[in-house]
Amino acid sequence: ATTLGAAAQQSGRYFGTAVAAGRMGDSTYMGILNREFDMVTAENEMKMDATEPSQGRFTYGNADRIVNHARSRGMRVRGHALAWHSQQPGWMQNMSGSALRNAMLNHVTQVATYYRGKIYAWDVVNEAFADGSSGARRDSNLQRTGNDWIEAAFRAARAADPGAKLCYNDYNTDDWSHAKTQAVYRMVQDFKARGVPIDCVGLQSHFNAQSPVPSNYQTTLQNFANLGVDVQITELDIEGSGSAQASNYDRVTRACLAVSRCTGITVWGIRDSDSWRAYGTPLLFDNNGNKKPAYTSVLNAL
Ligand code: XIL
Repeated sequence: ATTLGAAAQQSGRYFGTAVAAGRMGDSTYMGILNREFDMVTAENEMKMDATEPSQGRFTYGNADRIVNHARSRGMRVRGHALAWHSQQPGWMQNMSGSALRNAMLNHVTQVATYYRGKIYAWDVVNEAFADGSSGARRDSNLQRTGNDWIEAAFRAARAADPGAKLCYNDYNTDDWSHAKTQAVYRMVQDFKARGVPIDCVGLQSHFNAQSPVPSNYQTTLQNFANLGVDVQITELDIEGSGSAQASNYDRVTRACLAVSRCTGITVWGIRDSDSWRAYGTPLLFDNNGNKKPAYTSVLNAL
């Protein structure tokens, strides 16, 4: 195979990228997107602030541009994200209690219903656990509505779109020994035991010198998969350059391929200049759209 998507398909997997609606007029960007990828995540356009800018008024223009482009080219879509403490619309940020709980559930229901049948997997809840060694939930307005807010969101999403895989997505959950990883694992284990609908765990996998690819990354993927969920690498980027960066991308790709329920990899942007990480050159294509050594290492590993 000569493209990332086709190479991933050889083992029944996908290879995706984050897409920003504002870049869709850039022909270099679109050329790479259409050539290389078979899964798409909206980088910001399906988040709560974008889709419900004022309470009860839903706007899907930019999200639809991405979804419609992807579907017209035979690419699938990961929905990102239905409930999150960050990028909430202003009206939601200061809400609390049952008013917030109901607003969150209504948001999940409305957005998942609007896209029913068009989404391969939804990040139903994003980043709900705290960093550090506590293993606790992250404090947020949503968490303060009650510890069961996550399962309530998953149940609402299942009711709205029974065909979409429902994922919990987070970062710093790559190292198996990390308290945050263990805490997410226990939540998924509990959801499976109690029949809360969950189908997948997304590992964002933003790596840099402070947070490198852990040596036990494959173990983490396998341990989540052993709970009976798919695992996906959902926002991959690895700061660096040259052969060191290529070797890290190789390791991540091989870890996914070694775990049968690791169903796909998504990178968080196309060219380095498209990345949210301004200075880290963390992606597979350089600013001119040329393939980097990291690209070749991923293609060869797939
Ligand atoms: C980032 C986007 O890339 C930026 O454009 C935006 O300003 C902030 O959000 N975890 C996530 C993603 O789940 O939604 C974030 O995306 C990166 C970290």
